[in-house]
This record gives sequence, structure tokens and C-alpha cells, in this order.
Amino acid sequence: MTSSAVGVEFPHRPTPHPTPAGQRDALLADPGFGRVFSDHVATATWSAGRGWHDAGVRASEPLSLHPAAAVLHYAQEIFEGLKAYRQPDGSVALFRPALNAARFTHSARRLALPPLPEEAFVDAVAALVRADAAWVPEPPASLYLRPFTVATEAFLGVRPAEEARFLVTASPAGPLFAGRDAGLTLWISDELSRAAPGGTGDAKCGGNYAAGLAAQAVARAHDCDQVLFLDAREHRWLEESGTMNVLLVTADGELVTPPLGTILDGVTRRSVLELAPDHGLTPVERAVSVDELRSGCADGSITEVFATGTAAVISPIVAFRAASGEFAVGAGTPGPHTLALRTDLLDIQFGRVPDPRGWRVPVGLDSPSSDIT
Ligand code: COI
Repeated sequence: MTSSAVGVEFPHRPTPHPTPAGQRDALLADPGFGRVFSDHVATATWSAGRGWHDAGVRASEPLSLHPAAAVLHYAQEIFEGLKAYRQPDGSVALFRPALNAARFTHSARRLALPPLPEEAFVDAVAALVRADAAWVPEPPASLYLRPFTVATEAFLGVRPAEEARFLVTASPAGPLFAGRDAGLTLWISDELSRAAPGGTGDAKCGGNYAAGLAAQAVARAHDCDQVLFLDAREHRWLEESGTMNVLLVTADGELVTPPLGTILDGVTRRSVLELAPDHGLTPVERAVSVDELRSGCADGSITEVFATGTAAVISPIVAFRAASGEFAVGAGTPGPHTLALRTDLLDIQFGRVPDPRGWRVPVGLDSPSSDIT
């Protein structure tokens, strides 16, 4: 499909220099995370005068930006992350891309960037996956898709840019935390915060991640895999991890996670909350204090903790470290609910089980008219 009901079309102009098949297959054999990129990008340009135009799927090549481009100075940027999954019959499916499209709109409004029509967002992603279908690896790897919009206007005054560019780049990817199947240790950051009420914490923008890097470096210095942020006002309430939402399993059968507001409305977070009843768990969104986390892990009322994200999937958390000391979760090994939810989610994503909720969206590799809805 190259057209959209909203008038933004993504026709494919193939690169004249595709990666030779042998080289591509060697890269797909062990792609790591975020280092290998496919041959094409999807792109569209926006200006206040013309709206969205000049859209298509083209060769992936370095961008040319004016040194005064607003994104380089004021971080006017938003992004998304989703994956394309190889199915048992060789076809390829996305996972709930409409949720990413809706969150992209939300982020665009918060960062004063032009929202791309949500149907066009999904069309762009699907068109790129069709163009680079040979780059979709076999399970357990997948093709990580990174849609983003940057403010390109060359202007040093501070106001919403009047020119922007949308792109989707694709990266065959293995696990984000390779070799960490035994579980992650998080550093509880009680000084550096990620987001404050009224800020951009619920938008997916580069600035949030830049603001988290120093805390991540502190975590690494303490031999932790990632950071767990607390709220900015009291440094008391759990928010999210550096690249993931956080969920706790309680001994009385609840799946508890901090409420939305200053954290990202994760697609995996949401999906796991919806799967919870199938696993005998009651989903609960409520504030959790760091004291409750510590005492619950000590007295056994919190039995498991895990993190969710498109890149992280469902990653067990087996210990926490903080300035005040260290504590383990349960026996310090991945818990049964964590592993069962992970298997369930991956089975849905990779098409190994029926999908009664309609979460898989085929990209329509074999048909000129896509079945994207
Ligand atoms: C994702 O999980 O898609 C993310 O955006 C996290 C990332 C920064 C690796």
C-alpha cells in the first residue's frame, strides 16, 4: 500500500545500492541491539505553509541539517519504538502500532511539533517493513522500528519550528540486555529525577532520555544495569526505569504499577496489564513508595518485580541498590509470573498462539493492498 486515506503517501523508491544478501544475512545472524540498520527509511517533510509533503520510502543515508536546525539547540524531537515480528508462515506482523501512533500524536502536541496523521504513521512503518522485509530476522530477534520527528528549521529564536522532518529507521535487533537473563539490578536514584508534574515525562522525547543519562552513569558506576527513577517532588514514589516501566507482583495476586502522569504510557506495560487476569493477577495502577518496595521485598509481600518496554520486552528485576544499601527481590531469581507473562507476550508477538485481541497487525507482504487497519 502506498497511499493513505489522509493524503500522505509513502511510495517506495528503492536504493540503487542495497546491502548484498550475504552481507545482510551475516549481520542478521547476530545483530545485537541498535547497531545494524536496514537499507531504507520512511520519511515525510512538514512546513507550516505546506503541511506534510515529500513522503516516501527511500535509501537510508546521512541527514543534511543546517547547523542552526532547532532540534540541535532546543531538543525539539519526539520518537517511538515498535517492532516487526517474523511469523511462523514467513509473513511479518507489527504489534499494536495504533498505540504507538496515538502516543506519537500526544508527544508531538507536548513538544509543539506537527502531529503526523495516525494512519500515515502506521502506513509509513508498514511501507518501510515491506521495503526491507528481508531485514526482518528470525525469532527470537525482530526488526526494531524507530519513527521520529525532528525540528529542522534553521532559526535561533526560541519558538515552535515551522519546518520538521519525520523519519522511520529500522534496525534488526536482538535483546536489549544481552546476557542478563538471570535478571537486572536497578540503582534507585534518590537525587536525579527524570520528570516533574507538568513536564514532559509522559511524552516520548529525546530530552527525557538525555536527562536520564547522568543517572544511568551513576547506576553503572554502582554496577547496576539501569536506574529506577523516583518522583521529583518527594523522591519517594516509584516512577519508571531509564528505558522501561516497572511492575511488581504481590503475594496476594496483584500486578501493581505506578499510575500514568509523569511516566511513559508503555505499550508493553499496557499489554501486560491486560494479560494479567489470564495469569491469575489483578492489575492495579497505584503509587508505590520506595519504602513499600524495600519492606515488601524483605517480608515477602512483593514476590517479583519486572520491567517492560518494546526493546526490553519483559525483563526480570532481581535486586535493587541504593545509597542506603541493597536488597533482593524474592530469591534473587526471575519469578514464575514474570517468565509466564514474557512467554505469553512473545508467543502473541511472534504468532505462535491465537490472537483473540487482534494485537498483531500483518504488514501485507504478499498483497499490493495492505491489511493494515
Ligand atoms: C523502547 O523500548 O522502544 C525504547 O524506546 C527504549 C529505548 C530507548 C531503547
